[in-house]
Amino acid sequence: MSENIIRMNMGALQSNAQANANTVICLGIESSCDETSAAIVDSERNILSHIIYSQIPEHQKYGGVVPELAARAHILAIDTVIQQTLAAAGKTINDIDVIAATAGPGLIGGVLVGWMAATGIAQSLNKPLVAVNHLEGHALVPRLSATAANGIGNGGSIDFPYLLMLASGGHCQILLVRGVGKYEMIGQTIDDSAGEAFDKVSKMLGLGYPGGPIVDKRAQLGNAKRFHFPRPLCDKPGCDFSFSGIKTAARIMLDKNTEPVDEQFINDFCASFQAAVVDCIVNRLTHAMDTEIVKQVKPKTLVVAGGVAKNSAIRSAMETLATKHDMIFAAPPMNLCTDNGAMIAWAGIENWRIGNIVKEPVAPRPRWPLTEL
Ligand code: KG4
Ligand code: ZN
Repeated sequence: MSENIIRMNMGALQSNAQANANTVICLGIESSCDETSAAIVDSERNILSHIIYSQIPEHQKYGGVVPELAARAHILAIDTVIQQTLAAAGKTINDIDVIAATAGPGLIGGVLVGWMAATGIAQSLNKPLVAVNHLEGHALVPRLSATAANGIGNGGSIDFPYLLMLASGGHCQILLVRGVGKYEMIGQTIDDSAGEAFDKVSKMLGLGYPGGPIVDKRAQLGNAKRFHFPRPLCDKPGCDFSFSGIKTAARIMLDKNTEPVDEQFINDFCASFQAAVVDCIVNRLTHAMDTEIVKQVKPKTLVVAGGVAKNSAIRSAMETLATKHDMIFAAPPMNLCTDNGAMIAWAGIENWRIGNIVKEPVAPRPRWPLTEL
């Protein structure tokens, strides 16, 4: 366990408004994939503590997350992560007002570990428990991070409704977020997620896992015009995505390639691939803004969230798009894009506020679309 403790990271803390007598604090637990994370967040949008234990080194040699290993690693880490989160905030478990944990979607072995820990704590203390949808964690965390201090969002707040591009390792969706628990699907991938495409192209190039950050870095050094990648569905109406064609094109190009695969080749390949992903996202979002529902609802903010929201080119293309459409652009800071406990704690607070707490036993779900909330 000592090795695990060494590898834990403190997420960035956030200090916003002063706490007052009505301030509620929530312990949030995330364990749906390869991060065991916990955070304490208050209702004034302060992040009091945030611990992220990443299992990436455990999975790296397999080139992706191995569910069985992930579940075991969560079991080993969960108690220490929670204890360290409490200690870092200078709190005891009795100080916590609300407990929240991811109850799906995700790798079920890991989800069960975090959910059982949260259930045990809530039942033993007789405190309210919130079953958080992991995707809702991603979808709502921009509202936590948009503070007057960091200048993201409209004067420090992102109000409903907003148009959300949610892109992670498992999902790629355009959603109209009308409120907590109120999501309308505008478009989604018909095959792979954007994160999956980044991870697979990275693997093909032998660059390692997770691929997104590596490809992003390489792309910044490359020529995006050297290789021609398709832009699937971009010549078609609608807002759905398809990334498997881009991935297949990468495979075929690499199989047929006769040029030396040197550093420049890899950088150019990453830049060309990333440019295709960015074009698809911009094209589909442009169509989304032109749908009847979006034109009628007129969301003021264009938001990106999920692990892929860390991508520099996607952030900048979306910012340009938002400006062009007279919208405000918002994105969480980097450490709140990939999986983290703070987004679960914040979604816990937002759900608790509307009375959405667990009243009868909840079975964690491997699949749990946002539209079923
Ligand atoms: O949200 P997340 O942490 O986990 C899921 O809920 O799936 O997202 C992980 C995904 C991975 O596919 C990873 O490669 C991708 O986010 N990612 C990126 C970047 N950083 C992480 N993709 C593109 N560019 C990045 N800079
Ligand atoms: Zn996620």
